[in-house]
Amino acid sequence: MSIKYQEILQEIHEEIKPFKGEGQIATYIPELATVDPDKYGICLHCFDGQEYTLGDYEEKFSIQSISKVLTLSLAVSKIGERIWERVDVEPSGDPFNSLVQLEYEQGIPRNPLINSGAIVVADILVSILDDPKEDFLKFIRSICGNESINFNPKVAASEKATGFRNAALANMLKSFDNIKNDVDTVLDFYFHQCSLEMTCQELSRTFLLFANHGTQYGGTEQILPRRLGKRINAIMQTCGFYDEAGEFSFRVGLPGKSGVGGGIAAIYPQQYSVAVWSPRLNPKGNSVLGMKSLELLTTKTGYSIF
Ligand code: DON
Repeated sequence: MSIKYQEILQEIHEEIKPFKGEGQIATYIPELATVDPDKYGICLHCFDGQEYTLGDYEEKFSIQSISKVLTLSLAVSKIGERIWERVDVEPSGDPFNSLVQLEYEQGIPRNPLINSGAIVVADILVSILDDPKEDFLKFIRSICGNESINFNPKVAASEKATGFRNAALANMLKSFDNIKNDVDTVLDFYFHQCSLEMTCQELSRTFLLFANHGTQYGGTEQILPRRLGKRINAIMQTCGFYDEAGEFSFRVGLPGKSGVGGGIAAIYPQQYSVAVWSPRLNPKGNSVLGMKSLELLTTKTGYSIF
């Protein structure tokens, strides 16, 4: 059966209209508050190379926590399964920036997609890369086949100036000896990775890697061994939406990852990757219209992993 994806995207766009004003843009990183809250874009990239798009899908936005999947991928591609000695793979059931759980669990973050886990992954990359920020950019550019991908220095600086909770997490990790480098150097890398800007089109192309067992968009290079690609998808499924991971699985049924810039990337293995962007967030920090759109997508196509 061939699915009429473009028509489905149009239908979704109509059906989400009643929810348009719901949610708040993230303001705790001041630079994110300057974005138009009513932007909306979606890009679905199918395995046959077809792309289906709508709205502001060519506009760059701050991918924020979606970058955690990408740093994790680079780290596991370099050090393999040893990474799990420093970060666990359990859903947190807690907000993304929780301090309490980290103290209780003796400095081993619940998973690599919450802030503490991503800061440990950042530390690993700072240890193993020659030029961490540049090498990370090179990695993303090669996956996406796009040399224009870059950090937004204003967003990175804005978060650096206000990222007190992340500084607290990094210092606590250091006190448990789970940060090996200088705390400020690690945070600088983390704030930059979060400031990465991409369009929905670039993000869906990048995430094709995860739909394709570790092989990049438009190429044949095996960026991640298949067994590690499987693990990253499992972590996205169980941990990609923090204390709303269950809700996303329940409503959407795809491995995915959100960011406070309002983006969500998700994959349907061997079929498609999809990226949606709408900056208004629900109280758990996930895009209201993004979640709604993906719920409608899997309902209308009948394609979910469940
Ligand atoms: O560390 C932070 O708070 C942000 N740079 C990223 C948080 C984020 O995107 C959570 N996602 N829903």
